[in-house]
Amino acid sequence: QLILDTLDKQGTIKDTRTLVLPGQIDPAATHDAQIIILGALNSLSSREMITYTTQETLSHVLTQEGASIALNGSHEARVWAVLPLKGEGEPVPPKELEKRVGAETAKLGQANAFKKKWIAKDGPGLVKLVSEIVDQTQLDMREVDSTGTLKAGEKALAELRRRKLITQRKGQWFTVHKGPLFSTSIAKPETDLTVDMLTSGSWKTSTYKRYNFDAEGVPTGGGSLHPLMKVRDEIRSIFLEMGFAEMPTSSFVESGFWCFDSLYVPQQHPAREVQDTFYLSDPSTSLPPPEAYYKRVAKVHEHGGYGSTGYRAPWSDTESSKLLLRTHTTATSASMLYKLAAKCRGEEVDDDGLATHSGTTQTHKEDGEESDAFRPAKLFSIDRVFRNETMDATHLAEFHQVEGVVADRGLTLADLIGFMRVFFKKMGLENIRFKPAYNPYTEPSLEIFAFHPQLGKWVEVGNSGMFRPEMLEPMGFPKDVHVHGWGIGLERPTMINNIRTLVGHKVSIENVESSPAVAFHM
Ligand code: PHE
Repeated sequence: QLILDTLDKQGTIKDTRTLVLPGQIDPAATHDAQIIILGALNSLSSREMITYTTQETLSHVLTQEGASIALNGSHEARVWAVLPLKGEGEPVPPKELEKRVGAETAKLGQANAFKKKWIAKDGPGLVKLVSEIVDQTQLDMREVDSTGTLKAGEKALAELRRRKLITQRKGQWFTVHKGPLFSTSIAKPETDLTVDMLTSGSWKTSTYKRYNFDAEGVPTGGGSLHPLMKVRDEIRSIFLEMGFAEMPTSSFVESGFWCFDSLYVPQQHPAREVQDTFYLSDPSTSLPPPEAYYKRVAKVHEHGGYGSTGYRAPWSDTESSKLLLRTHTTATSASMLYKLAAKCRGEEVDDDGLATHSGTTQTHKEDGEESDAFRPAKLFSIDRVFRNETMDATHLAEFHQVEGVVADRGLTLADLIGFMRVFFKKMGLENIRFKPAYNPYTEPSLEIFAFHPQLGKWVEVGNSGMFRPEMLEPMGFPKDVHVHGWGIGLERPTMINNIRTLVGHKVSIENVESSPAVAFHM
C-alpha cells in the first residue's frame, strides 16, 4: 500500500531506500527492509500494477564486535566511563579497572583513550581528563547498522573494515514505475470468468489472476484398484507360480445340483435352507444336468454305492433343480472336476483335457477299474459367493472365496497339509495349524488356523479336506484318483477389523487409493 500511495503521489519511486516503512523511523535503507519491499514489488508486478528495476549495491553490516560497540560503546569509551574526573575521586588502579570493564576492554580501551587524551595516569591509578566525550566509533556503528553505509565515505568504511567492525554485503534497491493496471487499491484478482461477470459486464473492468503454467495442478482423481482386487492379484500370482490354472467362475447363479448335490451335500442339509442360501424366483429352476451323471449322483445320495451306504433319504428332483446364488466356489470346482473326469468316462475332450460336450455319456468305468485317461490337475479360483447372513462387522451377504483343488493319483492328507503350508507361507502366514472338521464333501476335513501376531491368538482362516469317493467316483474318476481342496476367505486376511472398511458406503476412497499392493493382516 505504501508503494502504491507513494507512486500515486510521486509518479515514480526512484529509490526504494527512501521509503519509510510503517513502524520504521529511518528510511528503509537496510537490507531487511529491501527484502520486504521486494516481496511486495513481486506481488504487485504479477498483477501488472507496477513495474520495477533492480539496482545492485554493496552495503555494510556490523560484525559481532561492531554490534557490541553499537550497543555498549567503544572500549575506550567504556574505560573512560568508569574512571573519576581528575581531582574529583580516587584514581582507579589497573587491577580495579580490569575488574570493572573486563581484561580485554581494559587493555584495548586504555591505549586508545590515552591516544585521544580522554584519560591519564594519576599516581598509581587512572583518571578522566575530560568530562564529556563523543564516541565516534559507536556513532559510526549505529550509522552503518541503520543505513548500511557511512556518510563519511569509503575511507572511513575501509578503516572500520580493517578493524573488523563491519563487513561488506551485497544488497539491492529498486526503482518503481506505475504498471498498466495501476490503482491505489489492491483488488483480489478474479480467477474465473463467471456467468454473472458476463451478464453484468463487470468482466470488462475486473483484474484477472495470470495463469501459472508451472503450477502442479489439482490431482485429477483417476480410478484405482480396490484393496481386495490387489490382494486377489497377489494370491492369483502365488497360484500361477505354483502351476495352477484358473477356473472360470463367472456364473454366480448355480443349481442346487452343482452347488450341493454333486458335492454329496445331503438334500436336507441346513446350508440349503432359505435362511442360509439365496434362491432365485424367476427363473427358479435350472436346465437338467448331464443325465447319466445326474442319475449316479441321485443314486449315491439315496441308496449309496462306491463303498458308501448313502444318506438313505428320498431324492428330490425339485431340490436339485433350484436356482440359487452360489454359496461357495466349490460349485465351480465340482463342475470342473466333472469335466476333468470326462476322458475317464470315455468322452471326447478338447486340447485342455476338458470335455467338449458334457451332456452325453458313452461309457462309465465301473468301480476300481484302472484308466490311463486321467490327467492330474491343479485348479484355483478367486471369486464372489453369496450367503443369506445377518450382516455385522465381520459378515456380509456376499464375499470372496479363494479356492484350490488338486487332483492326482494317490494323493494323501499329508499332501494337502504340506501343500497348504507352502501356500500360506507364500502369503506370509508361517505359523499355521489344522483342526479336524466336518464337510459333507470331504473326509477327512481340516480347519486351518493362523496365528495373528497383533491379536496374539489363533484365527480361523480356511477350510479344507480330501473330497469323498461319493463325490468323485460318480463323476467317473478311478478309485485311486484323489482330490484335495481348500478354501479361504479373501476379506478376512485383507480387512483390519471391520469388513465395512473394505466394502460399502463407509469405505474411505483415500484408503482405497493409497493402500499398498498387499496387506495381510491375519
Ligand atoms: N467350500 C468350503 C467352504 O466354503 C471350502 C472347501 C473347499 C473345503 C474345498 C474343502 C474343500 O468353506
